Amino acid sequence: MRITTTVNGTVQEVDDVWPGESLLYVLRERMGLPGSKNACEQGECGSCSVYLDGIVVCACLVLAAQADGHEVVTVEGLGAGGNLHPVQEAFVEAGAVQCGFCTPGLVVATHDLLARNPSPTDPEIREALAGNLCRCTGYEKVLDAVRMAAGRRESEEAGA
Ligand code: FES
Ligand code: FES
Repeated sequence: MRITTTVNGTVQEVDDVWPGESLLYVLRERMGLPGSKNACEQGECGSCSVYLDGIVVCACLVLAAQADGHEVVTVEGLGAGGNLHPVQEAFVEAGAVQCGFCTPGLVVATHDLLARNPSPTDPEIREALAGNLCRCTGYEKVLDAVRMAAGRRESEEAGA
């Protein structure tokens, strides 16, 4: 089957999609967007998180066919003009990236959290990121990154 999906603002048409193919597979293997990571393929780790029509989903649990006619934003689509998004910059600067396998999903989840709640408390951050597993960082640097991104956003808004 053919699917037509808007990905990061660009209309993408993919032919010969098998009905059982996941959105994650199509993004990575057919559209050349390897940012979303394939770690568990069972909806457990969050490393494949993307936006589907503005809602964060695990791309490994969504059939590509379900994205037909819909809008997807991946970690590659968060920054503007080839620059890192401030959330991505905060992850780098806070040292919240080790092997990096979880990072795209954590970045998407943080982006979503701060859009809904620009000044989250630590418990709110922990709850929002509870579906994103990381084996390397111990999560402290991840918390630092989210706090840093939220703080910068606040100071930018205060200065605007
Ligand atoms: S790869 Fe999708 S949740 Fe783990
Ligand atoms: S940095 Fe390795 S799994 Fe999170």
